[in-house]
Amino acid sequence: MPEPRELLEQLHHRQSLAEQGGGAARIAQQHKKGKLTARERLDLLLDEGSFVELDRFVTHRSTDFGLDQHVVPGDGVVTGYGRVDGRLAYVFSQDFTVFGGSLSEAHAEKICKVMDLAVRNGAPVVGLDDSGGARIQEGVASLGGYAEIFLRNTLASGVVPQISAILGPCAGGAVYSPAITDFIFMVRGVSYMFVTGPNVVKTVTHEEVSFDALGGADVHGGTSGVAHFVHDTEPECLLTIRRLLGFLPLNNLDDPPERSTADPADRRDEALLDLIPDSSNQPYDMHEILGRVVDDGEFLEVQRGYADNILTGFARLGGRPVGVVANQPAVLAGVLDIAASLKAARFIRFCDCFNLPLVTFVDVPGFLPGVTQEHGGIIKHGAKLLYAYCEATVPKLTVITRKAYGGAYDVMSSKHIRGDLNLAWPSAEIAVMGPKGAVEILFKEEIAGADDPAATTARLIAEYTAKFAHPYAAAARGYIDDVIDPRDTRPRLIDALRTLRTKRDRNPAKKHGNIPL
Ligand code: HXC
Repeated sequence: MPEPRELLEQLHHRQSLAEQGGGAARIAQQHKKGKLTARERLDLLLDEGSFVELDRFVTHRSTDFGLDQHVVPGDGVVTGYGRVDGRLAYVFSQDFTVFGGSLSEAHAEKICKVMDLAVRNGAPVVGLDDSGGARIQEGVASLGGYAEIFLRNTLASGVVPQISAILGPCAGGAVYSPAITDFIFMVRGVSYMFVTGPNVVKTVTHEEVSFDALGGADVHGGTSGVAHFVHDTEPECLLTIRRLLGFLPLNNLDDPPERSTADPADRRDEALLDLIPDSSNQPYDMHEILGRVVDDGEFLEVQRGYADNILTGFARLGGRPVGVVANQPAVLAGVLDIAASLKAARFIRFCDCFNLPLVTFVDVPGFLPGVTQEHGGIIKHGAKLLYAYCEATVPKLTVITRKAYGGAYDVMSSKHIRGDLNLAWPSAEIAVMGPKGAVEILFKEEIAGADDPAATTARLIAEYTAKFAHPYAAAARGYIDDVIDPRDTRPRLIDALRTLRTKRDRNPAKKHGNIPL
């Protein structure tokens, strides 16, 4: 038996081999591409010195295609756990320097192990994906490995937060696991996601397309809506993951982490009084309102750059994390279309899974009319948003700043679908439709027969506006709990959140609902 120091030397040698991954030359190549290594990424993601590695000695068991001559301890993925601001997180970080980060059976088992631990111990999973997909040499064993991960992603959904950062060219199976997770991060010039790459696309559809144009960060952040956060650099991306985790509970039975704030709970904001333009058709930036209401003006926007006619993101009110959904009058007048419905529905369901109160700011002219929208399925996609709000049992606070027209009034966290506190500013207009549209339908013949149609229309619009374009008809029925001075928005919301701390509400027992997918 060798003596203890000799054994220790062997251990250190094996540890160092595992840490080198694919070796110095491949690490240099990774750096040359402007990418960090799997371990450098974990160093930035986790609190200093907090990473505890598991399974560093795991190797693949394949012998085909000469793989038995190429065995790297760790097998292309670094797994374990660490702390983010002192809070537990399970992690895996794929190592592109080993077989292009491709997923073998053993590599998959390592990922499954940390996912199982995360669910059992109730902590988030952060995956840093940099993988060429299924390890081709392993065939079906690798496909099986992916399916094991997909199953765990699905079972963990709504139990622990799951975050994916795409930090390389991710193809095939490497995109479907992230797609099931809650948030996808991408980095310009580094991240690519596609089911099949440009070469396969060319063979099958004869389309010539670059990596970037097919599945780059801006495509998924802006066009497909697959990515939730797009960054210019990896450190920025990893820092934002830390920030995001700071808003989230560790699991679905935990409360979101509260933080003390120097921003007074009773702070009134004078500027809120003058933010709404005189004309109800004039746009304004909803970010202005959010920034003035939430703690320290901090709003971590989710899916900025996709369906910007609705805003989604995290903020704090009185130190308590909340999910914010807000129509954005500065983009397409804040109309609800397919993309906006999908974006907000998914966000709302995330918040409901993880006990994050929903604060909704409403200024919406309705659903977007048109052939493209109808043929694209606005009925079923808009219904997703409606469904998400209806089924949510977390505290729901609503502030109508201006328009709340038609079906969109119902959808946007109205009283009728279990809004806990529904407030309106005096500038609110709550009606079936805007005055002009309403008058043109209701008084079509009167206008057509009038000596001066324009003057008649103007008179009728003024009458309709006086009758309906205000919050008091809704308030008279109790659909609005109060019409408030806009300057009091922050104190009123914070106070309401306090009353809702002990809220109890539950949906009927069922296996699961059937959201209109
Ligand atoms: C085994 C792989 C690999 C893979 C890359 N490598 N992908 N080895 N299995 N899937 C290896 C390469 O052979 C190479 O090894 C090293 O990793 C680096 O790869 P390069 O091609 O040199 O890098 P780059 O030019 O940056 O291109 C990266 C890439 C490309 C775009 C990811 O490698 C690629 O297209 N890979 C195949 C992608 C793919 O089709 N995967 C299978 C998807 S099907 P050497 O030793 O030569 O340096 C799938 C099924 C699951 O995933 C579906 C579930 C729904």
